[in-house]
Amino acid sequence: MPANILVLDDEKNYLLILESILEDEGYGVTALSDPEMGLAYLEESEVDIILTDMKMPKLTGQDVLERCKKAYPHIPVLIMTAFGSIEAAVEAMRIGAFDYITKPFANEEMLLSVSKAVQYAATQRENIRLKREILDRFGKGNIIARGKGMQQVMDMVDRAAPSRSTVLILGESGTGKELVARAIHASSPRRDEPFITVNCMALSPGVLESELFGHEKGSFTGATAMRKGRFEMANKGTLFLDEIGELTPELQVKLLRVLQEHQIERVGGTDTFDVDIRIVAATNKNLQEAVTRGEFREDLFYRLNVVSIFLPPLRERREDIPLLAAHFLDKYTKENQVEITGFTGAAMDYLTAYEWPGNVRQLENVVERCTVLARTEVIDADDLPPEIKDEEAQFKSAVDLLPSQLNLAETMDKIEGALVRRALVKSDFVQVKAADMLGLSKSNLQYKLKKYDLMGRAK
Ligand SMILES: Nc1ncnc2c1ncn2[C@@H]1O[C@H](COP(=O)(O)OP(=O)(O)OP(=O)(O)O)[C@@H](O)[C@H]1O
Ligand SMILES: [Mg+2]
Repeated sequence: MPANILVLDDEKNYLLILESILEDEGYGVTALSDPEMGLAYLEESEVDIILTDMKMPKLTGQDVLERCKKAYPHIPVLIMTAFGSIEAAVEAMRIGAFDYITKPFANEEMLLSVSKAVQYAATQRENIRLKREILDRFGKGNIIARGKGMQQVMDMVDRAAPSRSTVLILGESGTGKELVARAIHASSPRRDEPFITVNCMALSPGVLESELFGHEKGSFTGATAMRKGRFEMANKGTLFLDEIGELTPELQVKLLRVLQEHQIERVGGTDTFDVDIRIVAATNKNLQEAVTRGEFREDLFYRLNVVSIFLPPLRERREDIPLLAAHFLDKYTKENQVEITGFTGAAMDYLTAYEWPGNVRQLENVVERCTVLARTEVIDADDLPPEIKDEEAQFKSAVDLLPSQLNLAETMDKIEGALVRRALVKSDFVQVKAADMLGLSKSNLQYKLKKYDLMGRAK
């Protein structure tokens, strides 16, 4: 598709000349002598660049430029000024013209400016397209949130996104903390600015400090050049601090200062820089407990915990499992170019009953493995990895996951309560069905529903 150029000039002669030169070069040209019609045309057509005369009745080139900067900031505007009116050209450049052309012009010069602007417009458009694609990939649309637990999470994402408040995301490994952090950024006014991730566990404390704050040249052996830190890189955007529970006491103090003062200093430097950053932090640790044990600063905890979002473990939102499995099946059949249409009922039963100690990430891995290894068009129980079906192992992993207290009666009560709840969910809260699954009489089930405070939900 040739680039579409909008040419505005009240002098009909110039308009005709420009139109024919540009068309000869293969451009699509819309030549109008009335700038207001030009603005109307912009509203309904795809224009790549604008070439406008400065002096026109009704609207000047400067007016056109100013309006375009607001409404179509990605369209480059070239301004034509009469020979000698250099101030006008300077002013046009100041308010953001892409270039200016003085009349009368040499054709080659004019064409060079035009071709630069067309190229610039194409790169801009490609960048916008890529950014949209990335935002789509990390946006809320990609998060499966069917059950109430995840609906609450998404509601928090919506409410937290518009502000600059620090968000603390809590949840076991593999529950989707990073996904939620990206969704917060993608739904926030900062979405076009950088999203920078730092994993506080992956780096040794010294390296982490210079990674976060950057360093000046010569600040330590090996610092052969100045380096910007992630705080600076994230300026105006969002900084995602993953595994925040691993931060050393020294770095906790430094982070607290950034949160309080919105300023940083590079390692070995004396200048302070203002930074405008939204911090989203995540951890699979119980930070509150770490505070009680004196391992995590209480003041920092409160600074981080302005808004907290808890991602429930997958075993507590089993209603999401079928949709998640389908989502990953779609992803990996496309990636591996295989035709698998779904899961058999038996396979899905195993998937929904499993404890998923590795949460969504583990489910994703299992589905990926199945798409590679499945022998038929539908994934059956036989195609699932043994740990999913091994009841003995399931019990063991479930027991491993229990809190370390060993009081038998209390523990058994908790397990019993959880199983009764699960049977209720699986039976759509129909008591007779739940009783049947559990092998209990109806009256016995009702006794247990009362005992575990589940009466309200059962039908
Ligand atoms: N609700 C969801 N919908 C779709 N995909 C999800 C969902 N939750 C998690 N995932 C996927 O599961 C994988 C693990 O998620 P993520 O990396 O965000 O977890 P995490 O909590 O940060 O884990 P860790 O604590 O191990 O770093 C990712 O591939 C992510 O895309
Ligand atoms: Mg993570």
